[in-house]
Amino acid sequence: MLDKLFRKKTVAADGSILDRIAEVQNRPMPAHVAIIMDGNGRWAKQRNLPRIAGHHEGMKKVRLITRIANNLGIKVLTLYAFSTENWKRPKPEIDFLMKLPGEFLSTYLPELIEQNVKVEMIGNFDMLPAHTKNAIRKAMDETAHNDGLTLNFAMNYGSRLELVESVKEIAALIAEGKIGPEDIDENLIGSHLMTAHLPEPDLLIRTSGEVRLSNFMLWQLAYAEFTFMDVLWPDFDELCMLNAIEEFQLRNRRFGSVEGKGTV
Ligand code: FPP
Repeated sequence: MLDKLFRKKTVAADGSILDRIAEVQNRPMPAHVAIIMDGNGRWAKQRNLPRIAGHHEGMKKVRLITRIANNLGIKVLTLYAFSTENWKRPKPEIDFLMKLPGEFLSTYLPELIEQNVKVEMIGNFDMLPAHTKNAIRKAMDETAHNDGLTLNFAMNYGSRLELVESVKEIAALIAEGKIGPEDIDENLIGSHLMTAHLPEPDLLIRTSGEVRLSNFMLWQLAYAEFTFMDVLWPDFDELCMLNAIEEFQLRNRRFGSVEGKGTV
């Protein structure tokens, strides 16, 4: 399957990509990869195209990277598709971005089902236009029993809002006398986040050369490895994905501990 996916590139490039895949697959794979897909507007500008052309090209990369992630055995892929701050963009651009889930899912849902991908979403669902909600709900319903890759769209998502909601839920439990303040710990807070059922991201990728989190999974990324790549999202391809995973695999994750415990 992977051979098939990468064959074109293998023949065209230096012949080494299959070796790279084998190397990456021989090392521990990140269970959860989160991506801030940035640079669509700049990609379009470079080509004298409207910004929405960049978003449309970016949508095609969502398909490619989903297939690769699934084939590599990654369990969760969270993609930052629309933030709570993105409502400040011009209305035509917002309208276009809100239509993308519908276009993507009406085109690729059969393929996602065939590949055993499960579609999920984090973010404020209620505020989305009806057509966006319908497309996402349909995809979630039709893939609910799949157990391959979880393709998790962060749509109308903002990490601070998520934390505020979680604090409100916990405060309500205390007000109802169901728990006391002493019961608040990291697990409790984590269990009230929209990602409660998912492993925390191991690897964050941000494209376009920007080096910031933009209100994305602030709690969940506490121990993730960060990779900031100088490539615009519509140019992100299988080699970029392999490079990011390889960088993750070659890093030394200590989770606050030290190497070789027992030596001072
Ligand atoms: C940020 O780049 C990108 C977005 C706000 C939208 C990302 C959405 C996609 C890649 C497609 C999502 C697909 C589905 C199926 C939901 P930017 O436009 O801010 O780039 P710029 O910084 O170069 O202007």
